[in-house]
Amino acid sequence: MKNYTLKVHNIKKETKDTITLCFKQPGLRKIKYKAGQYLTLSFRINGRKYTRPYSFSSAPSIDPFLETTIKRVPEGVFSNYIHDNVQVGDIIEVMEPMGDFIYDQDDKVDHICFWGVGSGITPLISIMKEVLVSNPVVQVNLIYGNKNFESTIFLEGINELLKLYPYNLKVWHFHTQYNHDENHHFVKSGRINKDFILDLLKDANVERIKHYICGPNDLKNTIKTALDILKCPKENVFSEDFELVKDPKDFEAILTQQVKINFEGKDTFVEVLKGKSILEAALDVGIELPYSCQTGSCNTCKGKLKTGGLRMIGLLKEREDLALDDYLLCCSHPLTEDVYIQI
Ligand SMILES: Cc1cc2nc3c(=O)[nH]c(=O)nc-3n(C[C@H](O)[C@H](O)[C@H](O)COP(=O)(O)OP(=O)(O)OC[C@H]3O[C@@H](n4cnc5c(N)ncnc54)[C@H](O)[C@@H]3O)c2cc1C
Ligand code: FES
Repeated sequence: MKNYTLKVHNIKKETKDTITLCFKQPGLRKIKYKAGQYLTLSFRINGRKYTRPYSFSSAPSIDPFLETTIKRVPEGVFSNYIHDNVQVGDIIEVMEPMGDFIYDQDDKVDHICFWGVGSGITPLISIMKEVLVSNPVVQVNLIYGNKNFESTIFLEGINELLKLYPYNLKVWHFHTQYNHDENHHFVKSGRINKDFILDLLKDANVERIKHYICGPNDLKNTIKTALDILKCPKENVFSEDFELVKDPKDFEAILTQQVKINFEGKDTFVEVLKGKSILEAALDVGIELPYSCQTGSCNTCKGKLKTGGLRMIGLLKEREDLALDDYLLCCSHPLTEDVYIQI
């Protein structure tokens, strides 16, 4: 894993609770990334190292700076720290770009739908810009949910794209705080819903459309249900998750246990409370294990199970790349009292 330090060149205010950090590329080792990937930032806050991933909102072939857009999460340690402390000129530690929520040019596809809610727009705008510039024959639709226009991240940028690509790009806004306006027929009241999706795609050739979804679980479920009705091929649907949603039922067999962790050649016993992941328990006692997504999507937190039993809970994607004794510690919970893990 490569690490870099990046200098904050500019901070843009997007909405009341969202900012974009613009980083200068390093002088020597330029950072390469694909539209839709994310950058992992780290800070030491009150003595403890915290790490969080943020999708690029910039597009590699268009934007001169590396840009990530961060929304304040109520009570959130990292997002609030960034909003309240980071200034132009600061140097920030980052990991190399990661993520497979990307667009590969595909001649069989002539239509792409982007479905997003709130800060879920970040990887979508990155891919959208890249597609519009690199592929002039593709029809692009953005369906974007927010409270109202004041809370809509990148509203101005999206309006500029509409002017630049009047034939290729169509945008629908869904607002939960809707103000009726005769002239704005592209603004709809409420949430993105199944009937709208079925109507939008009723005459489309579903084999030739790709879908990119980024937002809360209910958005993903609504879209996937509608796409199933339309018999849209599963391999044409991609989604990115910002948060792991845990089902309490999956924890029935899990008990609070002591686990032994071997990290940087040293063994430490750590108490893992029921419901906490092994990664969280280790971080709580000051063992600075590497991690990034905390959703089971990357490999940064991978450990080898030497003895005992673990269960990975909440994995959002099938991970056929993992060996039998490989465990992603951000999703791993002890099943037995003799767990020994090596990182
Ligand atoms: C692949 C990936 C890409 C991401 N890209 C972006 C991005 O482009 N912009 C962005 O703003 N965030 C993004 N995130 C989310 C980001 O990494 C952090 O999780 C988020 O900023 C909250 O961190 P925190 O330390 O402030 O909150 P924490 O202190 O970790 O959490 C505080 C509370 O908020 C809840 N919570 C955590 N994350 C969210 C969330 N995203 N929405 C609502 N509640 C949450 C937690 O369950 C917890 O209860 C991305 C996450 C992933 C996995
Ligand atoms: S931190 Fe990415 S899989 Fe655990």
